[in-house]
Formats: sequence, structure tokens, C-alpha cells
Amino acid sequence: MRSFSSILVTGGAGFIGSNFIRHVFRHADFSGKIVNFDALTYAGNAESLADVARDFPDRYVFVHADIRDGEAVRKALKEHGCDAIIHFAAESHVDRSIASPDDFVQTNIVGTFRLLEEARALGPRLKLFHHVSTDEVFGSLGETGFFSETTPYAPHSPYSASKAGSDHLVRAYRDTYGLPVTVTNCSNNYGPYQFPEKLIPLMTLNALEGKDLPVYGEGLNVRDWLHVEDHCEAIWTVATRARLGETYCVGGRNEMRNIDVVERICALVDKFAPPLPSGAPRRSLVKHVTDRLGHDRRYAIDCSKLERELGWKPAHDAASGFEDTVRWYLSNPEWVSSVRTGAYRTWIERNYASR
Ligand code: NAD
Ligand code: TYD
Repeated sequence: MRSFSSILVTGGAGFIGSNFIRHVFRHADFSGKIVNFDALTYAGNAESLADVARDFPDRYVFVHADIRDGEAVRKALKEHGCDAIIHFAAESHVDRSIASPDDFVQTNIVGTFRLLEEARALGPRLKLFHHVSTDEVFGSLGETGFFSETTPYAPHSPYSASKAGSDHLVRAYRDTYGLPVTVTNCSNNYGPYQFPEKLIPLMTLNALEGKDLPVYGEGLNVRDWLHVEDHCEAIWTVATRARLGETYCVGGRNEMRNIDVVERICALVDKFAPPLPSGAPRRSLVKHVTDRLGHDRRYAIDCSKLERELGWKPAHDAASGFEDTVRWYLSNPEWVSSVRTGAYRTWIERNYASR
């Protein structure tokens, strides 16, 4: 089992990164330090880790910087004696990548390249560079079949193409320079602290507020939904136990059509929130809108390699996972309002200005 004394986590103020940092501090066998290195784009919210900053003041550090800034990366790695990098930082929303691909190429490809260069400069001190990637690099499935570690790459959106580029760079640094890398490609995550532009938090909050629920096309596209806690445990398992150079696919064994996801969310919001003024069920808010360009039809993952080799299994079932998630968004209006308004930027200045 690999152990680390100080881990640089990039993108730790985002959805999965913040859940990962909390998971490692609260549930993993780890006594070292975590350096959360994040540029705080619209999607980053350092306040998501306020409890961790409070409970682990000597072991949790926040560095407000950009992965494209090689000098800042070098300084953080040196100052905090990092011996591992777990790389989450990315532009992550497909619709934004269609509207404006530039940042996706800059952060996901150029940023990953910068980080790899700084990782390489650490030499033998670096025990691990783990890259968090997506199943979207494999393209789209028909009615049957699954993505696995041997599926050829066929990305369609600027987002997935930029993640494919970063995956290839990470593996090239392994093959060329012997960098100690591991990679995971996972399906759609759900859970607390997800920026409300992605399907599940967007639909939950729109349903709560009685707004339209924009379902792209017929809503028949299929995604596999993985609880973010299960994903975090998979990343920690791979980071500490996988053979260097290995890739693992991570999935929730939980395929659903978008329309079914939205209807399930509507039923949960009806159950746990006050009724709409009209008294109508929330599913009446569903509005079929113009389909996303190049919309991938179906994603599904065969995660048997991870289950077989490292004994990981998703622990959350969709029924309780969705219910807990919807209830989390309904019970955390301050967090919702802070990410929608960007108010957390003042919070960060107040809390970290002196560090
Ligand atoms: P997110 O958009 O919620 O968070 C991204 C974080 O990265 C933010 O905190 C942001 O401030 C930070 N960031 C962006 N650009 C940066 C830069 N140039 N320098 C430093 N920090 C920067 O994303 P997420 O959903 O948490 O995804 C995390 C990772 O997991 C990404 O690499 C994404 O591709 C991958 N992934 C996500 C999903 C999913 O369902 N959310 C599925 C598969 C893979
Ligand atoms: P999303 O959460 O953006 O994740 P990804 O595109 O990475 O899979 O979208 C999940 C699915 O939901 C996807 O098929 C697009 C669809 N979708 C809608 O129908 N309406 C929406 O408003 C959004 C954001 C997504």
C-alpha cells in the first residue's frame, strides 16, 4: 500500500475534489497534509470545505492559484513537501465547452501539461500523479455494450476531446519519463456540492423554485450515475493500491434515461418541499428543448476490473443516493446562494487573507 505525507489536490474547491478531500480526512487511513490548489473559477467554492478547514487546521492548506502557472505549482509543491498529486482541476461542463471551448483547451490540456512538467521536476520524490478523467473520452454507446479500460478513444465534445488530450499526455509522461501515474475514467457523478448547472442540482433547484425543467430533446439519452462518495473511495483505492501505470474505469452500475432522472427528482422535491402555488406536480414543469449539439446517446461502464483487482464496489444505491442528494440541496440554501452569486470569494479573502 502506498502512503503519502503531503498531497497536492488540484481543483479541490470543485464538486468532486471537495468531496474527495473531506472523504480522505474523515474516512481514509491518512495522517498527512492536503494542499488544495484551486483557481476558484465560477465552479470552485472554497467554502464547501469550511468544516475541513475548521477541523484539520494543521493538515489542510488552501492555495489560490492556477495550474497553468508553473511557478505557483512549483512553489506549492516545494513549500508543502508534496509527494503526490491528485489532479481534478478542469473545466467540466459540456454545454460550456460547446459555447466557448477556449478555457477547456487552456485548463484541461495546457494546465495538465504544466502540472506534469512540475511533477516531472520533482524526480524520485514524487510517488504518484493520479489523473481524474471521464468516460466521455470513449464517445457514445448504442443500446448495448459498456466502456472499459480497453475501449478506443472517440471523444465528441470539446470537453471530452480536451480530457482525452490530457489523458494521453499523462500516459505519455509515464511512457517517456517514467512518471508514476494512475488514471481513472468515471461516469456521471451525483451528490452534494455540485455546481447547479449540471443535470441533478439544476433540476432540483428549478423544481423547487417552480421554474421550467429543460430536458434536451426527448430525454432518452442514458447516463450511468455514480455517487460522488463511491467515486472518491475508488480514487483513494487506486491512488494507494493500484500498480503504477494502470487505468481503471469507475461506474455506478446505475444507468438511467434523463427523463427518468428528472421525473424522479420531481417526485422527491414534491415529497420534501412545499407544494407549488398551483398545486401541480413538479413533473408538469418539464420542457423539452432543442437538443445539445453532438449529444452522446448513452454512457455505461464496465467497472469489473476495479472490483476484481482492488475489491472496490459502489456502496450507494440510486434510490437512497438520489433522495439524500435532493434533500441536501433543499437543506443548504446558503451554499446554493453563495455559489450562484460568487459570494464565497469574499469568504475566502476573509478566511485565508492572512495565510
Ligand atoms: P468542477 O467544475 O465542479 O470543479 C473544477 C474545479 O477546478 C473548480 O474548483 C475550479 O475552480 C478548479 N479549476 C478550474 N480551472 C482551474 C485552473 N486552471 N487552475 C486551478 N484550478 C482550476 O468539476 P468536478 O465535477 O468536480 O470534476 C472534477 C474532475 O472530475 C474533472 O477533471 C472532471 O473532468 C472529472 N469528471 C467529472 C465528472 C462529473 O460527473 N462531475 C465525471 C467524470 C469526470
Ligand atoms: P450533464 O449533467 O451536463 O452531464 P454530461 O453532459 O457530462 O453527461 O448532463 C447530463 C445529461 O442531462 C446529458 O445527457 C445532458 C442532459 N441535460 C438536459 O437534458 N438538460 C439540462 O439542462 C442539462 C444541464 C443536461
